[in-house]
Amino acid sequence: MEKLTVTLGERSYPISIAFGLLNSPDAFLPLKSGEYAMIVTNKTLDSLYSTRVKSTLTKMGVKVDEIILPDGEQYKTLAILDTIFTALLEKNHPRSTTLIALGGGVIGDLTGFAAACYQRGVRFIQAPTSLLSQIDSSVGGKTAVNHPLGKNMIGAFYQPISVIIDLDSLKTLPVRQFSSGLAEIIKYGIILDYDFFCWLEKNISKLFEFDEKTISYCILHCCELKAKIIAIDEKETNGQRALLNLGHTFGHAIETELGYGSWLHGEAIAVGIVMAAKTAELIGQFDNNDTKRILNLLRQANLPTKGPAKMAAEAYLPHMMRDKKVVNNQLNLVLPKSIGNAELYTNISHEVVLKAIKQCLHTD
Ligand SMILES: NC(=O)c1ccc[n+]([C@@H]2O[C@H](COP(=O)([O-])OP(=O)(O)OC[C@H]3O[C@@H](n4cnc5c(N)ncnc54)[C@H](O)[C@@H]3O)[C@@H](O)[C@H]2O)c1
Ligand SMILES: [Zn+2]
Repeated sequence: MEKLTVTLGERSYPISIAFGLLNSPDAFLPLKSGEYAMIVTNKTLDSLYSTRVKSTLTKMGVKVDEIILPDGEQYKTLAILDTIFTALLEKNHPRSTTLIALGGGVIGDLTGFAAACYQRGVRFIQAPTSLLSQIDSSVGGKTAVNHPLGKNMIGAFYQPISVIIDLDSLKTLPVRQFSSGLAEIIKYGIILDYDFFCWLEKNISKLFEFDEKTISYCILHCCELKAKIIAIDEKETNGQRALLNLGHTFGHAIETELGYGSWLHGEAIAVGIVMAAKTAELIGQFDNNDTKRILNLLRQANLPTKGPAKMAAEAYLPHMMRDKKVVNNQLNLVLPKSIGNAELYTNISHEVVLKAIKQCLHTD
């Protein structure tokens, strides 16, 4: 088993990575006999994985309940959050309870926010099951729900007490979802780690073949990169964590405009990364050869590299101006400088952004 720590003083927590962890009582420590836990999951994951989590917790003497939510990004809402609170209250869950997020990023974000609010804060464990949630959303304590006017606009920074990554769960993940996770993996290479980007260029086909060693290393490395950033900038205040937003200002515009759940998060981010690279090229900060390498890798990951046909370039900016990085009506964007290195640029001209977007649209 691989183990690493997100170092945040008294809120530090372990990330455990191995095959079969959902069956392992050790993975669920420090839960102990007599304590309450509530598994929060969705219909899809319930049928696949709830039984093993319940059986592990029951063996430990934990009193376990479960709430099964509908599956999809469109359910990452305040209304669904309320159903979690109702379930907790109906089953008399005390302040010492622990919520267990069993699912992808949607379940993780919802459960984390519910844990931050229920009785002013209870413990929660991330048990991420999608590739995207294993390498990104389960680590770092960003929790949120969507609002019709903007993605992830209502939420809290709230850290889990542990992250349990059972690599077995990837075996049931649909391949389109696997690709979606690869977008965030490629993003790490572009913003932080040139060598890892090269490693991905060499090993992407092995990831699709589900080579166990390759997958394990990839997930461990991404978690290490994210944990390092969280340790130095937990609440996105000194510019380090903001780098993880590469492609997200454009990508969130796509997700919001099309309606949540229509394009997958990683698909929107893939296009957003290309738009960011084009913007950086237009302001003379990025080499076109590097854009080509990025395009090539995204294509190998079966990700889109052009914006949705039905979304005009002009439709992006109103959404982008609602981004959390907008200050005093100025558009601030994370852009790549070279592969392995990105920066937050302030007050980017709307004309340049529009031009970059237009270069990344379907022309047919
Ligand atoms: N909090 C953060 O730091 C952070 C970071 C990145 C993304 N996010 C959020 O994460 C969400 C996207 O996460 P996601 O891509 O995991 O989407 P998701 O949670 O919707 O999961 C994708 C789909 O795969 C299914 N699934 C998950 N694991 C499975 C498995 N093992 N077997 C079969 N099916 C499985 C889910 O039921 C769902 O239908 C977005 O809401 C995004 O905003 C949050
Ligand atoms: Zn993301």
